Amino acid sequence: MSLLIKNGKIYQNGSLVKKNLFIEDGKIIKITNQELKADEVFNAINKVIIPGAIDSHVHFREPGLTHKEDFLTGSMAAAAGGITTVLDMPNTIPATTNLQRLDEKRKLAKKSIVNYGFHFGSTSDNTAEIEKARNVASVKVYMDYTTGDLKLDKLDVLEKIFSSNKTVAVHSETDHVLQAIELIKKSNNSLYFCHVSSKEELHHAKAGKIKNNVYVEVCPHHLFLTAADLNELQSFGEMKPKLKTKEDQKALWEGIFNGKVDTIATDHAPHTKEEKMQINYPYGVPGCETMLPLLFNLLNEKKLTLQKIVQLCCENPAKIFKIKNKGFIKEGFDADLAVIDLNLEKEIKNDELFTKCKWSPFDSWKLKGWPIASIVNGNIVFENGKINNVKAKEVLHYE
Ligand code: NCD
Ligand code: ZN
Ligand code: ZN
Ligand code: ZN
Repeated sequence: MSLLIKNGKIYQNGSLVKKNLFIEDGKIIKITNQELKADEVFNAINKVIIPGAIDSHVHFREPGLTHKEDFLTGSMAAAAGGITTVLDMPNTIPATTNLQRLDEKRKLAKKSIVNYGFHFGSTSDNTAEIEKARNVASVKVYMDYTTGDLKLDKLDVLEKIFSSNKTVAVHSETDHVLQAIELIKKSNNSLYFCHVSSKEELHHAKAGKIKNNVYVEVCPHHLFLTAADLNELQSFGEMKPKLKTKEDQKALWEGIFNGKVDTIATDHAPHTKEEKMQINYPYGVPGCETMLPLLFNLLNEKKLTLQKIVQLCCENPAKIFKIKNKGFIKEGFDADLAVIDLNLEKEIKNDELFTKCKWSPFDSWKLKGWPIASIVNGNIVFENGKINNVKAKEVLHYE
């Protein structure tokens, strides 16, 4: 099977070039001015083509919580949002904390239409399993309480995990940021701070960046919403870490502009509307379908550059999690692409979303700049609002 994407503006090395992409067997074979003959042709005239986004932080809820989301619906949401690879979190039921459960999750993920990888979970007694786990993005350590009850606070166990040979991804709020920095200083390991949400957390995480193997992730909800929005959103704006002040939000944006922030990821954490209406509502909001539109809308407002978007959403996640052949549009790389119509204006509507939970904290936001097609391993899995159910693959992490 071959595909020619013609007339598009391709993002390459920081700028846009008008070239055609010839794709065969899931790979970008040629980036060319020629119109090579292919089985299928996609006309991308007036569209911008970027590497498909790599969302380093999603909760697709399988196994055990499939009333909220599953690998098919979650991946449909991702594809509709220009995300072609996701890294799934371990706080499922059961949690992904041993090899057998990782294998089970691998089987369940086969229904995904975007490529996928896995973060491995940690408990107070699974360090042997962590050592043995292969081809995982990271070991996830929950230093604070959140969905899934995986909070870990035994110092000797933390020390062991932080000095293992796997990147440590942490959910750490307030002073746990400092503790994570102290722990990583004693090893040569990499540390990835998930969903940094406040000026102070960013400041502390940033101080740890003396060693450049400390990475910072921020999420769209913390970039586009503040605690002031809770009046309207109520529990539908509640997630961990919580929405913060305008000043915190400003600090996160500064971090994006001055390079202290390395990735934007969704923390796509769907819960049903019914669950969110309960008094003891769960924390988390969905985000896969809205991240790129929110960012491209800012690009249209001249507040963000295309280069920043691609670095934070595509290139850096591929580098940090050592994902083979992804994150860049290059000959020989996987044909994972997002086709963007910068002029398309559309409103986010709850009932049009693909996520199983069918709501978004950004419902009714009008945005300009939308993904209109997503290509995964050379297959057009999303085009003009329609899903094409072609299965994707597990990513490969290089050493
Ligand atoms: C996440 C979830 O629901 O799985 N919730 C959240 O509020 N972010 C867990 C997490 O990422 O902490
Ligand atoms: Zn978290
Ligand atoms: Zn402090
Ligand atoms: Zn999360």
